[in-house]
Amino acid sequence: MKKHTISTLKSIKGKEPIVMITAYDALFARLFEEYADIILVGDSLNMSFLGKSDTLSTTLDQMIYHTNAVCNGAKKSFVVCDMPYGTYIDKKEALKNAIKIYQETKADAVKIEGGVEKAETIKYLTQNGIAVMGHIGLLPQFVRAEGGYKIKGKNEAEIENLLKDAKAIEDAGAFCIVIEGVKSEAAKIVTKHVNIPVIGIGAGKDTDGQVLVWSDMLGFFEEFKPKFVKQYLNGAELVKEAIKKYADEVKNKEFPSEEYEY
Ligand code: KIV
Repeated sequence: MKKHTISTLKSIKGKEPIVMITAYDALFARLFEEYADIILVGDSLNMSFLGKSDTLSTTLDQMIYHTNAVCNGAKKSFVVCDMPYGTYIDKKEALKNAIKIYQETKADAVKIEGGVEKAETIKYLTQNGIAVMGHIGLLPQFVRAEGGYKIKGKNEAEIENLLKDAKAIEDAGAFCIVIEGVKSEAAKIVTKHVNIPVIGIGAGKDTDGQVLVWSDMLGFFEEFKPKFVKQYLNGAELVKEAIKKYADEVKNKEFPSEEYEY
């Protein structure tokens, strides 16, 4: 697959669904790059890679470390680095941290959570040469403030807010928007309302693309099985079976057999 730019991604809105998947290391990024239009180094790594209970304690240095690994593994992919919680509280702080991401990694863009309230920050970033992906709807970085992960777009007022968020982000110069955890009809309306691609997660089929967290969709992250995740592989079971076989063979002195000896 040829590497995307923000222009090619914008140009396929409504024509060809965009495939986005997370990755946190070079090994998996290399496996995904042929099929994914975008690889997201999501701050979800705090949960699925580091075993924490939410994304809030992710640091900028961790994001940079994992983004470098992903860029090393997937040289042809359009890579987006999530800006972690607390690193874009105002526009100056956001620019300083986004520049650090650009200077220390090969990320093509950054992603920040928030709608209308983040428009000024997005405008400042894009005016200074940073490509920004927005993120609206259910915002994992607000999990503690909201007392849980709350589905959005359930009534007209919530749909109206989503529309305002999406438009504000588009007007601020973002090239793309992730919409997470919203009623499918609301996501469909938002997708029609803006001219930039809207990529859904738990947002139904009528968006311009889909994103899933790799460890959820490949069945490695056993503690977390939300309704919107389709499991394409039973990764945890396969790994456990293989490790058990290895352990049994070591205990029984079957491995290494002659064929694995020098
Ligand atoms: O951190 C992440 O993986 C994300 C996706 C859920 C979109 O933001």
